[in-house]
Amino acid sequence: MQLHERIFELALQRSFFFPSNEPYGQIAGFYDYGPVGVLLKQKIQNAWRERFVKREGNLELEASLMTPEPVLVASGHVGTFADPVVECQKCKTRFRADHFVEEKHFNVHNIKWDGKLETLDQIIAEKGLKCATCKGDLGKVFMFNLMFKSGIGSESSPAYCRPETAQGTFTAFPRLFRNHGTKLPLAAGQVGRSFRNEISPRKGLVRMREFTQMELEYFFDPLKQDIEGFAKIANEKMTMQIGGTKREMTAQQIVDEKVAPNQIFAYYLVGGWHYYLDMGVDPKRMVYRVLDKTELPHYSKGNIDLEVETSYGSIETIGNAYRTDYDLSQHAKVSGKDMSVHFDGRKIIPHVFEIAMGVDRLFFCMLEHCFRDKDVKDENGNWKLGTAKDWEWFDFPPAIAPYQVAVFPLMKKDGLAEKGEEIAKNLREEGLDILYSESGSIGRRYAKADEIGTPYALTIDYDTLKDGTVTIRYRNDGKQERIKISDLQVTIKDNLRKGRVRL
Ligand code: GLY
Repeated sequence: MQLHERIFELALQRSFFFPSNEPYGQIAGFYDYGPVGVLLKQKIQNAWRERFVKREGNLELEASLMTPEPVLVASGHVGTFADPVVECQKCKTRFRADHFVEEKHFNVHNIKWDGKLETLDQIIAEKGLKCATCKGDLGKVFMFNLMFKSGIGSESSPAYCRPETAQGTFTAFPRLFRNHGTKLPLAAGQVGRSFRNEISPRKGLVRMREFTQMELEYFFDPLKQDIEGFAKIANEKMTMQIGGTKREMTAQQIVDEKVAPNQIFAYYLVGGWHYYLDMGVDPKRMVYRVLDKTELPHYSKGNIDLEVETSYGSIETIGNAYRTDYDLSQHAKVSGKDMSVHFDGRKIIPHVFEIAMGVDRLFFCMLEHCFRDKDVKDENGNWKLGTAKDWEWFDFPPAIAPYQVAVFPLMKKDGLAEKGEEIAKNLREEGLDILYSESGSIGRRYAKADEIGTPYALTIDYDTLKDGTVTIRYRNDGKQERIKISDLQVTIKDNLRKGRVRL
């Protein structure tokens, strides 16, 4: 069984995520987050806000999801946001043509599709490729727009569920500029849902039709491509892939060697890299890949994607793009409204750097990279790996874990449950997420807390009532010690800040 298959089983059992509208049969590409998953997802999003909005003094907005057609004509999505599709003439199943042919042909020959529909038709004919479902004949390859279409009030006023949050930030830019200091740089982010009507999505959370994005648009004067604070991060290292070669580079080298177009770009490469480390993703399985000119999206003059190794293979998780003045200029052209600003004695259309990432893909990477298998015993019955665990668990960074603390009264009786509830309530008031449980053996309860990655578990026993201490158990090594209730809040919060599990 591949790791992603096991992760999917655990996600279902432990309430991380599950298919939407389950009683009606699963429709690929839609997932609901369960109660445990929601806690993790919210923390991922809050950590993004903390790093990319609050810490930088940037702005956040929430634009509408339903987008009138002219906006997406201007952005290029109506014209070009499409994938090649091939349909079975017999059973009408549709396949993403490039992926289909890639699996059967390109992967074998280790070459890339040249982007021409005729090439796909030719390979399908030459290789005699048939429908993967019924073996029927395949039709001609055609382009299929990935946006979900609707109409505002009536069909004569077409609109689409937004394919990215970014366009709402671009159309809001003139007002943001006027209302927030009339100066550049100005950066505004959004966390919210976007939609892509993928042809035949597989790979669970990695390819969804409705998903959550976290995108920051950084508007700057094209004559000023440096950024305050760069000197502080100039020596931070990341793994870069240029062509087929991987190497460690500092942010300064990335700028000096023109791997990224400017300091702003390199500054946020560091931000994205560190954010991923904070989420518990393994840096040895991360690489920033510099996209070749032929791979660039229609709006970009330079892209560097973060790619993460998973059991699905390498997946793209962050897109960093130099969007230049493409979007603002397009909106000026199509809307007829001036999108330029007066800045530094000149009338300019700002340029844009964008860092865009999907919450769901990061969520999936975290589940895979933080997954810890059961430890195995050797032939003498001793635990082989340092920590003796008989269950699969998640090593989430303590502050990001769904629950930070589990509270377990040893018994329900003799006032232990009341004491446990009081401790849980006090910790909740400190803003922590608390898993509270009174039933089952204490060993089983520890296992359940570990299974969803809870870093600390507190047990309330008879000594608690006598001396005001509880047992604290650490997720990673299972070690236990006594701690005063009066020290709990400060100690746990200090640990969460430092990212430590052991006190
Ligand atoms: N805004 C870039 C993206 O959605 O991929």
